[in-house]
Amino acid sequence: MKTNILIVGSGGREHALGWKLSQSQSVDTVYYCPGNGGTINNLSYSITDFSKIKSFAIKNNCIVVVGPEEPLTKGIVNELSERISIFGPTSEAARLEASKSFAKNFMKQNSISTPEFTSFSDPEKAKDFVYSTDKSLVIKADGLAAGKGVVVCENKEDALNAIDSIMIRKNFGNSGNVIVIEERLFGEEVSLIGISDGSTIIPMATAQDHKRIYDNDTGPNTGGMGSFSPSKIISDDSFTDIINKIMKKTVHAMKKNYTPFVGFLYAGLMIEKDTQKPYVLEYNVRMGDPECQPIMMRMKSDLFNYIKCSISGTLHTLPPLEWYENPAVCVVMAEKGYPDNFEKRNVIHGLNSSFGYNIKIFHAGTLRNNNDVLTYGGRVLGVTALGKDLTHARSEAYEAVKKIHWGKNREYYRKDIGLKG
Ligand code: AMP
Ligand code: GLY
Repeated sequence: MKTNILIVGSGGREHALGWKLSQSQSVDTVYYCPGNGGTINNLSYSITDFSKIKSFAIKNNCIVVVGPEEPLTKGIVNELSERISIFGPTSEAARLEASKSFAKNFMKQNSISTPEFTSFSDPEKAKDFVYSTDKSLVIKADGLAAGKGVVVCENKEDALNAIDSIMIRKNFGNSGNVIVIEERLFGEEVSLIGISDGSTIIPMATAQDHKRIYDNDTGPNTGGMGSFSPSKIISDDSFTDIINKIMKKTVHAMKKNYTPFVGFLYAGLMIEKDTQKPYVLEYNVRMGDPECQPIMMRMKSDLFNYIKCSISGTLHTLPPLEWYENPAVCVVMAEKGYPDNFEKRNVIHGLNSSFGYNIKIFHAGTLRNNNDVLTYGGRVLGVTALGKDLTHARSEAYEAVKKIHWGKNREYYRKDIGLKG
């Protein structure tokens, strides 16, 4: 019997997950809550209106797949899992993302490689620590801060300012009651995501994202301005090592702590420049956005089977995921001004241009208005292309980008996505 899917979230990640799941022979209709201008069957509930989501899922025989961290950390899985099949971690397991000090202590206790750190709840003690060390530092708000609560410091002044902004001016509210001060490392970053049923974890293809707003990785951090898969910076040997010493170890330790992790487990890794040793900079308890878009384009296997077996705890019965060899590149088209102030509701032209079978335009901040699609958020579209090689995938993605417009001075995208690959 076919089943329906209800995807919670409205970003490019959710569009890509729904696109992939809708190709499964086992899936009938994919609903989105609330979805965006590129998705159909959209429900207008908030992503934290758990009772409405629950009623809809029960009535419509849906398996619920949760995209973003907010409903996960607020306990959507705890609240819904008694009555329906839902894919994602409980709020207890989601602490791996919701609290940096929890995640860091967890890694320390379980000998999972992560930069040296200390946590502080007193800003004066945090400042004393900054004065006392010669190391380069990163200051992190403990709680969720929409990707903005991390300051990579060039000097002591940056660190002291970050402590003021996070702990005293409370720029991220209660998320800044505690901070983690971490040793700054230098190297390349890679995103490794696995799908877990609480005991077994099956890795996805590797990906890299481009977090900064401007070319050559400059300017402020964003949710991600583009991505590509696979990453070349991890060899096959070190991939196996990372799976064993980081991903499997995390899943086993979470289970041992009676907080088994079910869902997409994302390790944000830095491969340290001098030693080539991998360190976990952060966990996310969900798919990456925009890493999800190229990963979904490259996935050959039926994702639905893996989600179903994760929920039922039978992932060990499935083979490794299969991938197309072709690399994929996702270029994010954003409103000019993002991540700060930007316009909304510009009409997007060119979405119906002829795009090759290897191109997919995943929507993020868009809204359908009669026959128009309007911009409706900072990151608007994730133009994603598969290519013969990375250079080809890049040129295909940028050719497609050139066909889409909402005003010369209103749209913005990076020109160097995938170049570092
Ligand atoms: P996080 O949310 O902890 O991953 O931090 C966001 C970004 O800050 C990372 O993707 C890195 O670019 C940077 N970052 C975090 N921790 C460190 C670190 N210890 N050394 C260097 N850069 C870091
Ligand atoms: N692209 C980074 C993230 O999803 O957190």
